Amino acid sequence: MSRIAYVNGRYVHHREAAVHVEDRGYQFADGVYEVCEVRDGRLVDERRHFDRLARSLSELRIRTPMSRAALGIVLRETVRRNRVRDGIVYLQVTRGAARRDHAFPPANVVPSLVITARALDVAGRESTAEQGIAVVTVPENRWPRVDIKSISLLPNVLAKEAAREAGAKEAWFVDAEGHVTEGSSTNAWIVTRDGKILTRPADHGILRGITRTVLLDVIAAQNLTLEERAFTVEEAYAAREAFVTSATQIVMPVVRIDGRPVGNGAPGLVASALRRDFHRHAELG
Ligand code: PDD
Repeated sequence: MSRIAYVNGRYVHHREAAVHVEDRGYQFADGVYEVCEVRDGRLVDERRHFDRLARSLSELRIRTPMSRAALGIVLRETVRRNRVRDGIVYLQVTRGAARRDHAFPPANVVPSLVITARALDVAGRESTAEQGIAVVTVPENRWPRVDIKSISLLPNVLAKEAAREAGAKEAWFVDAEGHVTEGSSTNAWIVTRDGKILTRPADHGILRGITRTVLLDVIAAQNLTLEERAFTVEEAYAAREAFVTSATQIVMPVVRIDGRPVGNGAPGLVASALRRDFHRHAELG
């Protein structure tokens, strides 16, 4: 079956899907995106993804490409046409195509909208979660507005590649004070020896992950102790458990940090229980 992408009003074959060479996303990374999990053919936490998209667009003063209702229809149609049951749908909005000029283009330039969907190997992800993943730490070198889900991801790309080259699956950014901010495409969490769950507050320095937001509810429902505060790399080395969260990973146990085993070097009970309960608290559209 051939894959289909939605590009600026049309459903086209994925291999032929293209935007203009002067699209500002292509030339300036002048755009934003969302990645939404698809489960049983349904969108997970669509409302929260739309809320965050609206915020990212508004922070960058990019016009909304279409109404929420219309966007919801196009997302579902893209999922349907690609016959994705379990996977992800990717949505990207840029400031549009215009003659190259750093300043904003004329008001009549319309935003570009691209949507793709693809299946994920759910069984593979489950077996990865049973093993846990390794992370490495890298210096934080991103701009201060990482709260905006911008497509400008060069430091994230380099960090993920550094992880891959070190035999790890994720890189954790560490700020100048020695605190972990977040992963290159995930939020970062630890469980201390005395059972407290720590994650950095989402006011600045990290993206407010949708998975992170839902997980706060799961943590409350499981009567676990949460402290929203920054933690150091040393605290992470000494933690009983560590894990990352994102729409693609859900809750993924971390079993090694910079080559050192976390806890007993196996996925922890807290991470596994949070992962098990996650979708009971997520909104299924
Ligand atoms: N990444 N932090 C960063 C830097 C991210 O890129 C992501 C998501 C998250 C987690 O956000 P959420 O829980 O809403 O997925 C945190 C997506 C999945 C990506 O870039 O593929």
